[in-house]
Amino acid sequence: MKHIGTNSIETMRLILRKFRPEDTFDMYKNWASDIETLRYLPWGPHSDVNVTHRRILSWVDNYEQANVYNWAIYLKSDRQVIGSISVEMTNNKEKSCEVGYCIGKSYWGRELVLEALRAVMHYLFYEVGYRKIFAKHDTYNIASGRVMQKAGMHYEKTIVDAGRRRDGSLYNLDMYVKYYYD
Ligand SMILES: CC(C)(COP(=O)(O)OP(=O)(O)OC[C@H]1O[C@@H](n2cnc3c(N)ncnc32)[C@H](O)[C@@H]1OP(=O)(O)O)[C@@H](O)C(=O)NCCC(=O)NCCS
Repeated sequence: MKHIGTNSIETMRLILRKFRPEDTFDMYKNWASDIETLRYLPWGPHSDVNVTHRRILSWVDNYEQANVYNWAIYLKSDRQVIGSISVEMTNNKEKSCEVGYCIGKSYWGRELVLEALRAVMHYLFYEVGYRKIFAKHDTYNIASGRVMQKAGMHYEKTIVDAGRRRDGSLYNLDMYVKYYYD
């Protein structure tokens, strides 16, 4: 594998690029402050915009490492950052990684994450050299599972009682995988 970091990727409607400090307001407004958007994510919502700003600054620092893949999803038509897509875990020996994503609820239902995920998988397979990409979703988060299926990933397994939601209830995770040679 050849780690090359978070380079920009352009698709029809999106530019995937590194986060910048000036993305703070878009991130806070579009997803980091919204409890409904973050329903199935383990973090947030951010109590104020300074929390979001600090998070972005730490991401910007992390870009110094070539094995960090963390894109802001910039919607060209709206000139706004509407979400993020990133590699959350990586295993160099297996040449595998886990991808996660999130966009604000005003942008749901337009296959924007699908467009981003397809582009990111292409980058990770063909530019970086991963051989296996996987993603996991709370079994209640059906929309996320649909994104994985539409991106050509295959259901692998369900991890039972993987963690607890904010309300204390236990959740299961469905895991989807795509191999380089699929
Ligand atoms: C999950 C998420 C990425 C989906 O993005 P999106 O842009 O709405 O995805 P799509 O436009 O491709 O649509 C999703 C699909 O799910 C379906 N769907 C949405 N909500 C649904 C529900 N409650 N029940 C059943 N299907 C649902 C849609 O009909 C669509 O299916 P189709 O293409 O077969 O018609 C987006 O909602 C999001 O970012 N959520 C917040 C963060 C998050 O949960 N991230 C994933 C963590 S694993």
